[in-house]
Amino acid sequence: MNERIVPRHVACVMDGNGRWAALRSLPRTAGHRAAEAAVIDVIEAAHAAGVEWLSLYAFSTENWRRPPAEVAFLMRLVRRAIRKHALSLHARGIRCRFLGVTDPRIPPPLARDIADLMMLTRDNRRMTLTVAFDHGGRRDIVEAARSLVRDRVPAEEITEETFARHLPHSDMPEVDLVIRTSGEQRISNFMLWHVAYAEWVFPLVLWPDFRAGHFRECLDLYRRRERRFGDVRVPTTTGDAS
Ligand code: IPE
Ligand code: IPE
Ligand code: MG
Repeated sequence: MNERIVPRHVACVMDGNGRWAALRSLPRTAGHRAAEAAVIDVIEAAHAAGVEWLSLYAFSTENWRRPPAEVAFLMRLVRRAIRKHALSLHARGIRCRFLGVTDPRIPPPLARDIADLMMLTRDNRRMTLTVAFDHGGRRDIVEAARSLVRDRVPAEEITEETFARHLPHSDMPEVDLVIRTSGEQRISNFMLWHVAYAEWVFPLVLWPDFRAGHFRECLDLYRRRERRFGDVRVPTTTGDAS
């Protein structure tokens, strides 16, 4: 057992907002609004637990298929959340980054607020919060391939390490634990390269109800997993002992 081991990089697929709202006969947007409290609680819980990297899946490249009114609502919600929480994230020493954010449909004022938040918090080192927004794991892999070609890297020099250096945020470590709420059990194009050897947990709770206690339960489940990385024995170092 990985007693006392905190995963270095935890990633959450924040799923179940629409079902949360439907259970209350509310519009789907009410579920998205209610998700904000869960996000804040999880950031706090990860920070307190000593997680160094926290990644949150907020909007996928596929989510553009949703009704325009829902997409517009999500854009407004993210902008409001950034403006509301930027200073307290900064005060906590959290470096905020976004992964994706390339689609021209992203409203320019939101793109500016995202850039400002990244700039404001860029030197913070207590924890790195990566918000996957307009993110697609396959798109990132294709972009890395394009970048290698643009740099004229010879084929025989392309290794997993050089490839990873051409991915966005190339300093981001592999994901140790993925939490997908709402009981759905799929990847949905999330950080494909980085989750290659992640442990996965699928709590049934819907994201708007997810709180620090649920997050800590997921860390407990992780601690009980035996990570083998293809080997036959338990590796001695699978994360930061604390
Ligand atoms: C996750 O909740 C939030 C986003 C994808 C933006 P959903 O909106 O997918 O909620 P369900 O899956 O319909 O319940
Ligand atoms: C994945 O959830 C994307 C986010 C949580 C932002 P979805 O609800 O969009 O995924 P699918 O459609 O069920 O695979
Ligand atoms: Mg969903």
